[in-house]
Amino acid sequence: VTDDRVARIASSIRVIPDFPKPGIMFQDITTMLLDPVAFKDTIDLFVERYREKDISVVAGVEARGFIFGPPIALALGAKFVPIRKPNKLPGAVISEEYSLEYGTDKMEMHVGAVQTGERVLIIDDLIATGGTLAAAIKLLERVGANVVECACVIELADLKGRDRLGDKPVFVLVSST
Ligand code: PRP
Repeated sequence: VTDDRVARIASSIRVIPDFPKPGIMFQDITTMLLDPVAFKDTIDLFVERYREKDISVVAGVEARGFIFGPPIALALGAKFVPIRKPNKLPGAVISEEYSLEYGTDKMEMHVGAVQTGERVLIIDDLIATGGTLAAAIKLLERVGANVVECACVIELADLKGRDRLGDKPVFVLVSST
């Protein structure tokens, strides 16, 4: 993305080495939330991109998709649907398993939250291997939704997460190597 606002957003993200384990450079967006200009610019850049795209659902991936998703949904006049870690949602759910570096995890969504044919934008803070977004896309497509795009603040480009999403487009503000 070429925009004057992106430089401020990028520099507002703190990188913490060796968290949560040795060798991981953790991209910490909580420092961006301390800069109301950078936080608002982030939301605005997404809203500007999707305003005319007929999005009726913004689906946010736990946990940090819950920070960026709701203000975008409100600005677009769309509903917000949380996609959660297992056993957190109280109603009937559909779930999708996905593989991690070691073992598997699951993501869940409430049955009935999204209708067949709805146009969905998926939001998370970061794409690394792409496993999380791939599972979120599957969940939504299983209920007949049309996933228009995935949007993240940060991409760890070296991990080539996009390759796991087939032809589904991913829009990112900051690409990190
Ligand atoms: C991080 C990040 C994404 C996911 C991306 O979440 O917020 O949701 O990893 O990784 P992937 O592209 O390799 O799937 P995390 O696992 O830290 O969970 P949390 O947000 O609940 O802390």
